[in-house]
Amino acid sequence: MSLAIIGGTGALDLFEVLHESHPGSRYGPSSAPVSRIRIGGDEAWFLPRHGRPHAIPPHAINYRANIDALRQLGVERVVAIHAVGGIDPNLNAGSMVVPDQLIDYTWGRSHTFSGSAEDSLEHIEFSEPFSGSIRRALLSAAQSAGIEVHDGGCYAVTQGPRLETAAEIARLAADGCTLVGMTAMPEAALAREAGMDYASLSVVANPAAGVSSEVISLEEIHRVLAESMLRVSALLRCVARDLV
Ligand code: HPA
Repeated sequence: MSLAIIGGTGALDLFEVLHESHPGSRYGPSSAPVSRIRIGGDEAWFLPRHGRPHAIPPHAINYRANIDALRQLGVERVVAIHAVGGIDPNLNAGSMVVPDQLIDYTWGRSHTFSGSAEDSLEHIEFSEPFSGSIRRALLSAAQSAGIEVHDGGCYAVTQGPRLETAAEIARLAADGCTLVGMTAMPEAALAREAGMDYASLSVVANPAAGVSSEVISLEEIHRVLAESMLRVSALLRCVARDLV
């Protein structure tokens, strides 16, 4: 089984790169070449979603090219790292979450492989948008590594690149969302279309708009993410033993 890690904001250079692959895609260029990385005693693929250097905003990422590039490399399992805001007040900055649901509020993104001349029409089953087996592997790796992660949560996927208004976050909370980010969709659905098992390791960078009385600071978001990456990479090394 071949594992890929899709890195998000703050998760660019976590592992030693062995070589790079440029699989190409009929959907256009992927965010960056795909790196073959050493991860503990194992190897996996790594793709930085926002490019290298980090420059592609969430709405402009070519999610289809990214997933297609991984598909061409034979990837069957994906752990996706996402920076998110916490809607649930129990999710402090630096908390890690393995969500089990999502609501897609994005618009105008190329969100399916279906419908083009080469691809057949497919209505994927998506009641459970994240793979149970990858979620379980993440949770048990966290337990073995002694790293605290929250089991479950509903990820609101917003369009960005701006952060939300306090009223928008109140609406997302009323909808049942507990965390908010900009990149889990259409990535998760495309991975499902491509037959891959996909789950998210979400890192809370800040309380979402209006959840705390503090103004959200970009510097603080980057500081929290940088500080969290040691735990993220320890957890990924541990989960790779199960998933490679
Ligand atoms: N909202 C949306 N996406 C995010 C946030 C947020 O508050 N923080 C990090 N990514």
